[in-house]
This record gives sequence, structure tokens and C-alpha cells, in this order.
Amino acid sequence: MPLVTTTEMFKKAYNGGYAVGAFNVNNMEIVQGITEAAGELKSPVILQVSKGARAYANHTYLVKLVEAAVQENPEIPIALHLDHGDSFELCKSCIDGGFTSVMIDMSSKPFDENVEVTRKVVEYAHAHGVVVEAELGTLEGVEDEVVVEAGKASYTRPEEVEEFVTRTGCDSLAIAIGTSHGAYKFRPEQCTRNEEGILVPPPLRFDVLEEVSKRLPGFPIVLHGSSSVPQEFVKMVNTYGGNMPDAVGIPESQLRQAATMAVCKINIDSDIRLAMTGNIRKYFAEHPEHFDPRQYLKPARQAVKDMVAHKIVNVLGSDGKI
Ligand code: G3H
Ligand code: 13P
Ligand code: ZN
Repeated sequence: MPLVTTTEMFKKAYNGGYAVGAFNVNNMEIVQGITEAAGELKSPVILQVSKGARAYANHTYLVKLVEAAVQENPEIPIALHLDHGDSFELCKSCIDGGFTSVMIDMSSKPFDENVEVTRKVVEYAHAHGVVVEAELGTLEGVEDEVVVEAGKASYTRPEEVEEFVTRTGCDSLAIAIGTSHGAYKFRPEQCTRNEEGILVPPPLRFDVLEEVSKRLPGFPIVLHGSSSVPQEFVKMVNTYGGNMPDAVGIPESQLRQAATMAVCKINIDSDIRLAMTGNIRKYFAEHPEHFDPRQYLKPARQAVKDMVAHKIVNVLGSDGKI
């Protein structure tokens, strides 16, 4: 099938109590790892491209890589999404350039400005058969060139969501309930430690999610910053010359719970970076004489595939849902 929008995916996910994974893509190995896992598990999947990814790999290369993945995996629904679009112009360029979904992220702006820009993107996108994700509330961490400092983040205010969705006409809404971008989601002083000394983060605000979904029945909710930062990868990075002390993510059990609720899209990028980096570091340490990029990119691609397969089955619950 050709690239799809997220409309049908989200309807089925909402009613089926699961979520669709949205994985960031930056090169061929990442596209292949993700779509091979989704193809084998018969899972819908969203491939998302950030402004930074476009600057790194070039719009056309990324679209063509995704088109190749669509051709290689004709059975599964695949959507191509712009992650954290920061202007009407960027969204328009992606809509004109073959994306089926865009995010306009004006969450750091005042409410009325967020509404105004989001509505403009929605009008253009809908006229071209493309769907729009918007955001209310701010996450800590780095979103492309936008850095939200620790302590400056704010949870979504449920009392704002109906007005926002009605006035903008957006198709899905990203909310802030305590997730955060990157591999250092919480400062050690925000966490407790388990018996192995690993940081245990504060729980997500399921009460906020519950209240939002009560006010927007049937409406798809999105969670950004949802890597779980698997400690096996952090350990691999640190064992083979890296330095990532106190990297911490969102526990998978909490993401699983969110997927059974109104959350239909769960964004994962940092776990891909960790899987690749850990395995490449290990490969270099074990094979110092090798220099053919295919030798070390092969296990890196396999690690992305294994990690995505694990998420599809154990976190998202989207396997067999095509
Ligand atoms: O939320 C941000 C994503 O992880 C994309 O990161 O802007 O470095 O490509 P990036
Ligand atoms: P992570 O940094 O938790 O992987 O979040 C990715 C994301 O939200 C992309 O938009
Ligand atoms: Zn994000």
C-alpha cells in the first residue's frame, strides 16, 4: 500500500487499546531496522523526520528511503511525519514534499499564538490530504533547536484542550504529562534509586491524561519524549569507552499503561541512538582492525530492529494490528 495518513491507524489504536510507535529516522540503517521489525510483526508504524534530520540527510534522500521501505513492506501501513515543525513554512515544505502528517509545535508560545499558527497549518494540510499533530504544554529537554530548561516545563492544562482542538481543527494532540526528551530525562534529585543504584523516575501524571481524554472523547493523544533509555544500552556505551552517567528514561510499564488509554502515538528516538551507539562502540572495541562501515553498521541496524520489535510487542501492543 502507498504511504498513509495516521487517521485510520489512530482510530484502530484508540479502539484497540494500543499505540503506534513513531520512530525518528536519519539514515538508511535506521529506516531499515524499524521497518523490518514492523513488517515482520505486521505492525503499523510512523517514520518521523525532524528539522535536524532534514538538515543532516536532506529531505529528498529521506523521502526516497521511506518510499523504498514502503515498497519493501507492502503489507503494513506506514506514515511519514514531520516531527516538531517550528513554522508554517517548514510544515508546508513537508506537505508539498510528500509527507502524510506534520507536527506544528508552537507549545512554547502563548495559547492564542499557538492556536493561530496551528490553525493556519491545519487549513493548508487538510486541503492537501495531510493530517496535523499539535502540542499543548511543554516538555523538558531538547526538541530540535528548542531547549526547554529544567524546571521551565509545564504540564498540559486539561481545561484548555477542548478550546484548542475546536479552534485549530488539529487531528491529534501531544500533551505534557511528565515525559521528557533525550537520554537524561530527570535529574538525579528528582528520582529515587533502586537496590542496584539505578535511578527510578517520578511517575507520569496519568490523572492529567485521564482528564484530557474525558474532555476529548475518542481523540488521539500523543506522547513525546517516550524513550525508556534501556540500561543494557547505557551499560554497553559506558563499558566500551562512553560516558553517560545517570541516563534515565520512562519505565516501559508506564508507557504500556498509556498505550491502553487515549495515547495513540508514542515517540521514540533516543533509544535508537543508544542501541546504535552501544553496539558500534562494542564492535569497535572487539574488532579494532575493522574499518568497513558495513561491518559495524550491520549490528547497529540489527540492534535497532530488535529494540523496535521489543517495543512493538511489549510496550505499544501494535503487533498484528494491520
Ligand atoms: O524530539 C526530538 C527528536 O529526538 C529529534 O531530535 O532534532 O536531534 O533530530 P533531533
Ligand atoms: P525521546 O528523546 O524520548 O526518544 O523522544 C523522542 C521524541 O519525542 C521525538 O519527537
Ligand atoms: Zn518530541
